[in-house]
Amino acid sequence: TRLPPRGTIAPATLTAIRQAAQLLRAGDIVGMPTETVYGLAADARNPEAVRKIFAAKERPADHPLIVHLSSADQLPRWAADISKDAAELARAFWPGPLTLILPRAAGVPDEVTGGQDTVGVRVPSHSIALALLQEFGGGLAAPSANRFGRISPTTAAHVQQELGDKVALVLDGGPCAVGIESSIVDCSRGEPEILRPGAITADAITRVLGRPPKVRAEPAAAEWTEEPAAPRVSGSLAAHYAPATPLRLLPAALLVEEAAELAAEGSRVAVLAHACPDPGDSRLTWIAVGADPAAYAHALYARLRALDALGADFILVETPPADPAWAAVTDRLGRAAAGSGEADET
Ligand code: TXA
Ligand code: MG
Repeated sequence: TRLPPRGTIAPATLTAIRQAAQLLRAGDIVGMPTETVYGLAADARNPEAVRKIFAAKERPADHPLIVHLSSADQLPRWAADISKDAAELARAFWPGPLTLILPRAAGVPDEVTGGQDTVGVRVPSHSIALALLQEFGGGLAAPSANRFGRISPTTAAHVQQELGDKVALVLDGGPCAVGIESSIVDCSRGEPEILRPGAITADAITRVLGRPPKVRAEPAAAEWTEEPAAPRVSGSLAAHYAPATPLRLLPAALLVEEAAELAAEGSRVAVLAHACPDPGDSRLTWIAVGADPAAYAHALYARLRALDALGADFILVETPPADPAWAAVTDRLGRAAAGSGEADET
């Protein structure tokens, strides 16, 4: 991720960072940019502050949160046991879009871990997140700053749209460089296992560990729940990262035909295609996207928001290539499809 060094943070932003740290110390919640998506941050040692996150997101209280740290040096305060694999992954990828699940240290609130014996931790690479963490001094619990089940925010304006009146302050760090949530690797029980694919790919992890990580098998799309395929929590709800407009994933071979058919029936159809050329049908909103997975991920959530805002009857998305480099994007699109169209059903 290409980020300005800390020295280039504008004075007005430094003032806002100090104000945010003060609000966090007082037990308030704050919108925080990271290189992945915007987070909704609270003092991870303050259960009352952490409960405000769940209230603002309308998120079930048993969903665990990720603790953000300014440096791996703080890890012993949060994790009871740091395996050699975990230490190597932290050294290789922090600061960066990797979350490690580790056995939790004594004193980590149940509100953060969802009552589990593990804790999720990461050191983000966004200069403003790092500056805020340094100024605050402790760990910040932060899930994505969207209402539960909705598309994750990748700009400060998205956070305002999602949670505007519920947060004390939103720090503006520009559009997120990565654009999708961190890769999550469980290092708490033996062989490292990828629970959620992200910008740190299985290949990159293999190069560090010297062997491939386990990968949590994907459930059928209909069984997709928010985040890691099967988070170790009870009662997780179905379907997320979802636009209100019904979204379908289709292979290129079927895309043009299906879009034309729906349009002929009088439906308004928005299409996100990458290998598949625009058929030039004026009844379709056809958006061509590049064939680079990192660029696709960077723009994905903003595109889904924009597509949703068109008020079309259907969003059709070309299925990404079946290549490991596309695993994270394919995962998020599958969840978006599974959870889409809720407005029609209720
Ligand atoms: O990139 C990211 O990870 C962003 C930014 C803000 O850092 N955060 C994020 O948080 O995506 P959230 O809450 O939307 O997703 C975190 C997921 C949870 O859904 C949870 O299932 C998983 O991480 N998680 C956290 N702690 C865990 C634990 N102890 N065991 C298993 N999964 C855990
Ligand atoms: Mg989330």
